Amino acid sequence: MLRHLLNPLDFTVEELDELFTLAEDIGNNQKKYAHVCDGKTLATCFYEPSTRTRLSFEAAMYNLGGNVLGFSEASSSSAAKGESVADTIRVISCYADICAMRHPKEGAAFVAAAHSHIPVINAGDGGHQHPTQTLTDLLTIRNLKGRLDDFTIGLCGDLKFGRTVHSLINALSRYNNINFIFISPEELKVPDYIIEMLNVKGISYKQVINLEEVIGELDILYMTRVQRERFFNEEDYVRLKDFYILTKDKLNHARKDMIVLHPLPRVNEISVEVDDDPRAAYFKQAQFGVYVRMALIMTLLGLNAEEENNA
Ligand code: NCD
Repeated sequence: MLRHLLNPLDFTVEELDELFTLAEDIGNNQKKYAHVCDGKTLATCFYEPSTRTRLSFEAAMYNLGGNVLGFSEASSSSAAKGESVADTIRVISCYADICAMRHPKEGAAFVAAAHSHIPVINAGDGGHQHPTQTLTDLLTIRNLKGRLDDFTIGLCGDLKFGRTVHSLINALSRYNNINFIFISPEELKVPDYIIEMLNVKGISYKQVINLEEVIGELDILYMTRVQRERFFNEEDYVRLKDFYILTKDKLNHARKDMIVLHPLPRVNEISVEVDDDPRAAYFKQAQFGVYVRMALIMTLLGLNAEEENNA
């Protein structure tokens, strides 16, 4: 049966556990996986700018021995001529074995999946979801903290437009004893539908404006950039863009074992002087992103290293 990843909840907690175990094995034994995707092709269909996500998918496929084709902006695809996502994916299905798609419109990857003959991975749909970033975040937390239960996580910055934030809250809401602290200016608060979901599930959260006030309570601090491209006017963006800047001084008030995550790209919200702090884990996170995408490609294609190496 054809399987896609459109929403982080498409995989059960048990399936995610298997995926993360595979990703960790990949990280520790890269050679074992070097030919698992020989002869397979990944299409990256990116209708919106990206560096990390597209390149990490491409790196993942190359590391598995596979090939990559695709486009990195809508203007260089037939979308510029008016082709629909549904038609594009039908055609891509003839050229590739699996497709990663990023699109500025919410729901685009769902439309693609409905018309596809190959697995579709949602690599970000507008301000909605970003499931592979969430897999990256969960794998990083699991690896550095040793667990996905029992912690306080502060999400800071643009909680309104940040799709990585929406996906991560959704995914973490299935684990036990997670306490959320949402840190944002009034204008960039978490959308109501997420707050309602947390209320329905009885999950503990609080909303604050001031980072310093809560930083000492956190096991994890997840920083995000203000999503300029989703603002309706530049003035609001300029007013809010430097609302939070994590500096060494502020980190002095945090726990010694807190970790700082960021999906990247960073703008000003984490001062570069923080990069040398052992708690700064955002570049490690980017490395985990490649391993988890390798594991995901293998899983969606139904491949495993033992069988492929013996074939
Ligand atoms: C994120 C995104 O595209 O939503 N970037 C990423 O995939 N690593 C975060 C962002 O752009 O701020």
